[in-house]
Amino acid sequence: MFLKKIQIIALFMFAVAGNHVFAQNIITIPIETRENALVMQTDADNHLFIIYFGKKLSQTSEYQSIPAQSTQHDDNSGIHNSAYTPSGTWSISEPALQVTHADGNKSSDLVYVSHKTTKENDNISVTSIILKDPVYQVEVTLFYKIYSNENVIEQWSNIHSDEKSEIILQKYASSNLYFIAKDYYLTHYNGTWAREMQPEEEQLTAGIRVLDSKLGTRANLFQPPSFLLSFDKPASETEGKVLLGTLAWSGNFRMDFEVDSYHNLRLIAGINNYASEYPLASKQDFKTPSFIYTYSENGKGEASRNLHNWARRYRILDGEGSRLTLLNNWEATYFDFNEEKLSALFKDGKKLGVDLFLLDDGWFANKYQRNNDKAGLGDWQENVKKLPNGIGHLVKEATNTGIKFGIWVEPEMVNPKSELYEKHPDWVIKQPARPEHYMRNQLPLDLSNPEVQNFVFGVIDKLFTENPAIAYIKWDCNAITFNAYSPYLEKSKQKQSQLYVDYVRGLYKVLEKLRAKYPKVPMMLCSGGGGRVDYEALKYFTEFWPSDNTDPMERIFMQWEYSYFFPALAQSNHVTDWGKQPLKFRTDVAMMGKLGYDIVISHLNEKDLQFSKQAVSTYNSIKDIVWHGDLFRLVDPKKNDYAALMFSSKDKKRAVLFSYLVNNRYEAGSDVPFRLQGLEASKKYRIKELNLYPETKTAIKEDQTYSGDYLMTVGFNPMVNTRRTSVIMEIMEAQ
Ligand code: GLA
Repeated sequence: MFLKKIQIIALFMFAVAGNHVFAQNIITIPIETRENALVMQTDADNHLFIIYFGKKLSQTSEYQSIPAQSTQHDDNSGIHNSAYTPSGTWSISEPALQVTHADGNKSSDLVYVSHKTTKENDNISVTSIILKDPVYQVEVTLFYKIYSNENVIEQWSNIHSDEKSEIILQKYASSNLYFIAKDYYLTHYNGTWAREMQPEEEQLTAGIRVLDSKLGTRANLFQPPSFLLSFDKPASETEGKVLLGTLAWSGNFRMDFEVDSYHNLRLIAGINNYASEYPLASKQDFKTPSFIYTYSENGKGEASRNLHNWARRYRILDGEGSRLTLLNNWEATYFDFNEEKLSALFKDGKKLGVDLFLLDDGWFANKYQRNNDKAGLGDWQENVKKLPNGIGHLVKEATNTGIKFGIWVEPEMVNPKSELYEKHPDWVIKQPARPEHYMRNQLPLDLSNPEVQNFVFGVIDKLFTENPAIAYIKWDCNAITFNAYSPYLEKSKQKQSQLYVDYVRGLYKVLEKLRAKYPKVPMMLCSGGGGRVDYEALKYFTEFWPSDNTDPMERIFMQWEYSYFFPALAQSNHVTDWGKQPLKFRTDVAMMGKLGYDIVISHLNEKDLQFSKQAVSTYNSIKDIVWHGDLFRLVDPKKNDYAALMFSSKDKKRAVLFSYLVNNRYEAGSDVPFRLQGLEASKKYRIKELNLYPETKTAIKEDQTYSGDYLMTVGFNPMVNTRRTSVIMEIMEAQ
């Protein structure tokens, strides 16, 4: 650690003179979870620095002497480990905070004022640290919410101004962290439609590596705000130091990873300040979104299980609850349906044994009918040709058939060819003097406008008010934000640069209001596939749609990557006709998350139908383990001929193992056992193959028992090969 000279002298005197000399000057603040610690310390000038991040010490008092061990100091250049880096004064590093003050001055400094820790319960506490600019009336409070057992820290900042008039926030990060390791390996994700979550791991070198989005709505289309960061060497599933981080924000984000001149790593994460200077009036607060992270010294597996436990318990709506299996009509009918066709599909869903039928796009709009994606979006009245008796009739029909009814909406968007666009051109995000630019023939509505917020709320509220039995909503968002300009902000004399932030805040206002009135109805977060997945939106949604690409071969890889950040109960996986794999393979892949179907059931031959009915009932018998158990990724499809992963129940009495062939080359498959995880060494287990296709036999000896010790030391071979391309096994404690 490098220190300013004065701080080194201070610590030296501290060492010589004992505690009382500098107790008032040097303050050490440890933020501890069950296993880890983030420790900050003030210097003699009262600036706050990060002095440690890693495994926690048993003696809290020992943290304070960490800086004295370091000789990384240079009086002539930067000090990089600020707990929240100001700009324009003593720090020349990439800032966390950049402000233009009321008088136009652009300098900021932050000194420590006070801190306190409030305990919410045995597991959760919040430490807040107040920092203040000694010259200008600006205060920043750093919040660290600790979920101790899950080793998760949720961090955000609150910026407050007492200046006489408005100040402008140029950069306003959620979190500023600092790590010291030999090397840093960052895994980040890129993609586009149908190619979401393509991982890349790179060793970070000197300079700043930025992960960001400027897409506005559908912000994650090219890159999600989630990453893995390994220290010293790339972490494996079971070994290595690794941090999983993600920003809880459904809009533009920016994360700066900077390897500094000491080869230490600075991380600044928050809303993207691109075109987003934000005004802050006198006496007002700006609360940043949360940056959420967990750290493990035992590899990526443990880190992601920690995050899953946290997400189910504290974040995802109804995260510890149950989910509905469903039949969706999107790929079965696209826009081409009527009441008769839908009634037949309700019966198909019932026959299949799923809980719910989900009516997708195309049910609305009359003047400009919604028969393709070119028109009608925004006109949320039932199409009288397709549905002369309205949604109410469909809900009744479904209920009579013994299946619940859910419906698709995309309330944030509008087709220019729509009555909504004709009536309210000023509700649309577009540049007044420039040609419109579309994605999927549509434009986002201006959710910074309270009238638009009411409209969006009203779309869903009307559906529920008229049809209280609607049991599920799929909320879509298919366009990014081009030509960012808000007629509302213009009219209300606010700044255009607020739009990206105010849009997301507007969206959250709508979702908040909806959840106040309809707290429980399950909702799927969809964005033309996985264009919007984050832990702020998931406060309101029960699940998300990872990608429109449901080719099971692609999904094995994608679902694997999503599983680092999100638990299986939140991942909607549908069996569709994408890909060349047999129905069993497609079904087995969909079963490692929240199972749904999007195929024409009436086109299935007798055996396929028999298999699918059996699969739904098998899924019902294991879903509890998949949704609420611990996930262990065992064999990585990126590095092997096959993938294998398992979920085990918290009491380790039952587990389910999924394995899939991902390579068709000669003799590809599992030819030796691989180690299982998450079992009890001393327990005895029996293994049974599930989801066999009719008239096929298992290759597994089901009458044998194995100790957990054997299965976790020698392992097991599910015999995945070119004749058995996917295998699901249940592992049960033997009585
Ligand atoms: C998006 C979704 C699909 C489907 C269509 C409907 O692309 O990702 O699942 O709902 O919209 O238009």
